[in-house]
Amino acid sequence: MPQLTSPHVRFHASFLDAVREFTEAGLDALVLVGESIAPYERTWREPAGFAAFVDMLLAEPERPRRPDWVEMTNLWYAESDTFLGRLSIRHRLNPYLLELGGHIGYAVRPGARRQGHATAMLRAALPRCRQLGIDRALLTCDTTNTASRKVIEANGGEFEDQRGAKLRYWIRTGN
Ligand SMILES: CC(C)(COP(=O)(O)OP(=O)(O)OC[C@H]1O[C@@H](n2cnc3c(N)ncnc32)[C@H](O)[C@@H]1OP(=O)(O)O)[C@@H](O)C(=O)NCCC(=O)NCCS
Repeated sequence: MPQLTSPHVRFHASFLDAVREFTEAGLDALVLVGESIAPYERTWREPAGFAAFVDMLLAEPERPRRPDWVEMTNLWYAESDTFLGRLSIRHRLNPYLLELGGHIGYAVRPGARRQGHATAMLRAALPRCRQLGIDRALLTCDTTNTASRKVIEANGGEFEDQRGAKLRYWIRTGN
């Protein structure tokens, strides 16, 4: 059964496969890894470069990659050594996240979509949010992102409002 796990170098080959899937599908792999990864993207094909990328992700709960970002926990969703997707929990909301970004971002590799992984991944992340002191998590998605809207609603998302092109939902992370 797939599980949420911390980023680890054992996923090197599978992670690179996932990046290739994004490229071959004509999708921007940024959705997989987030912004500001250019220095790592140049070197992550090599074991040392990938280890540096993983270290950066593991440090983000204390040291976000960008000074204007909040602390963030990065999790990977994987079955055995197969990387399926990623999910990031932002520990608190700054004005941008409160308006548009929300607490949680996620993506599933193109070859693993429509199998319920995003729905299960978000469900598994809610206790982690709780542990981080987030009682209600803000989730947002583009008005056109039907898949993400369904993922949020399947996890109990309560619609609050639409701001620009974003739908905003709150999910209780515990009882
Ligand atoms: C959004 C995303 C994470 C969904 O991942 P997934 O693993 O395919 O999602 P699930 O399999 O859990 O599907 C959830 C629901 O969306 C539906 N769905 C999935 N892809 C869909 C699509 N392209 N169009 C319409 N509905 C879709 C599924 O059928 C399912 O519906 P159901 O509950 O009625 O059966 C994935 O498409 C993705 O990585 N997109 C790019 C990144 C992104 O948009 N992230 C979210 C930012 S808010």
